[in-house]
Amino acid sequence: MTDRLHTIVDHIAVKPNDSTEFRALKQRLALASLTAQFTLSTEQLRAMAYYFLHEMHEGLAGRPSTLAMLPSYVYRADTVSAHGVYYALDLGGTNFRVIRMVLEKGVLVTTDTIQDVIPQQHVKGTAEGLFGFIAALVETFFEGKGAADLAHARKTNSRIALGFTFSFPVTQSAVNAGKLNKWTKEFTTSGVVGENVVKLLQAALLKRNLPIDCVALCNDTVGTLIARFFKESTVEMGVILGTGANACYWERSAAVTKDHAVRNEGERETVINMEFGNFDSAHLHCLPVTEFDNAIEAASDSKGQRFEKMISGKYLGEISRQVLVKLGAKGVLPSDVAKKLATPYGFTSKDSGLISADRLPGLCFTQNLLKERYGITLTDINDLYTVKVVCVLVRSRAAQLAAMAISATLLKAEKTGNATVAVDGSVYEKTPSFRTIMATNIRRILGEESDVRLVLQRDGSGLGAGYIAALTAATSNKK
Ligand code: GLC
Repeated sequence: MTDRLHTIVDHIAVKPNDSTEFRALKQRLALASLTAQFTLSTEQLRAMAYYFLHEMHEGLAGRPSTLAMLPSYVYRADTVSAHGVYYALDLGGTNFRVIRMVLEKGVLVTTDTIQDVIPQQHVKGTAEGLFGFIAALVETFFEGKGAADLAHARKTNSRIALGFTFSFPVTQSAVNAGKLNKWTKEFTTSGVVGENVVKLLQAALLKRNLPIDCVALCNDTVGTLIARFFKESTVEMGVILGTGANACYWERSAAVTKDHAVRNEGERETVINMEFGNFDSAHLHCLPVTEFDNAIEAASDSKGQRFEKMISGKYLGEISRQVLVKLGAKGVLPSDVAKKLATPYGFTSKDSGLISADRLPGLCFTQNLLKERYGITLTDINDLYTVKVVCVLVRSRAAQLAAMAISATLLKAEKTGNATVAVDGSVYEKTPSFRTIMATNIRRILGEESDVRLVLQRDGSGLGAGYIAALTAATSNKK
């Protein structure tokens, strides 16, 4: 029955002479079919979680796995030693940020920041262009808010310490060195894959004659975990649900058998960046992909990353758009919907999130948004409801899948009882229901006795790099 329900939407075509009742009935059938495709049972989620666990083990051992399980070279340490002025750069989503942080014995006293949207020409351009853009904004900061630090460094002939959040799959060889394995999130910048990104950054800073040392390189998930760790030492995981999606967690160093340097640290805990966006991308053993997900993959510049394509902000609007276009083409929605939403990536995840949260009578928020942003006029409440349900389904599936990945990781860490998970990112932050669906599904997967707290760690991805830079500086001062 379920399989037939999945495909029923393919066999519905609303004809011009269908009665209003018949049209409404076909609309309901189409929604039932989509609901079957986009809703996951607890059994399905549990089965996926076990496969996720398997991939974690394989990845840590260095055997073929869709989870890269990348060591961060960040170890559990005493936060009180983090002291002084540190800079952090945050590159990895839509914006690039420069942050100045003042830490006093592990406590963040002040922050200053500037940010800019990463121009598309650099997302798809050259290494020189992208790192030149980064260095230019860093210089702008030092001409303004950071002028005193720069003057002081020049006068005393000292170097300014900086942490670099670079949110892509990087194989690190030290806390401040690592090569990019592949681009994700539709970046295609040439000359970076296979290179040490810290070297590229240092070279761009040197061109501007800035006395800066990048002492730490980290993923945004690692930054988020460490930023929370400074407030709450028992935090277990760092999760990003934004333009991209990924998570990291504390692992026993001894379990990282593929990396001798890490393994030799024994029982000391270290952070592992799982790169879960790529989960199950090799064989699609368990991901419930639909024709819409396959269409996104076919047109993507970031092949693989199938899990990320089902849950992150880069893609949620696009999945919704593909479904709406199909419904428009079938007459289930007015054909104008298909026409006005014809441009790939032309319907944003933000708008699809806002629509999914519309609780106004007559769905008038959805009606206005569609009119103002997309020039689509919908007057029939059934049509508006259909659009809303599509957006809700796409979001709920994302939240269910995110819950699955978090549950699996907590099972691996044997921390299903009482655990704190720090989350950052627009998808999580901007849609109120996202958090609730995640929490409910985590409880379903792990059992009612589990007590997992999801906490928003705003700016974690940026601040974390500064914290890690401070910890690194403190450790090397001790030596
Ligand atoms: C992508 C990147 C990953 C990052 C995530 C969230 O999945 O590959 O490194 O953590 O996006 O920004």
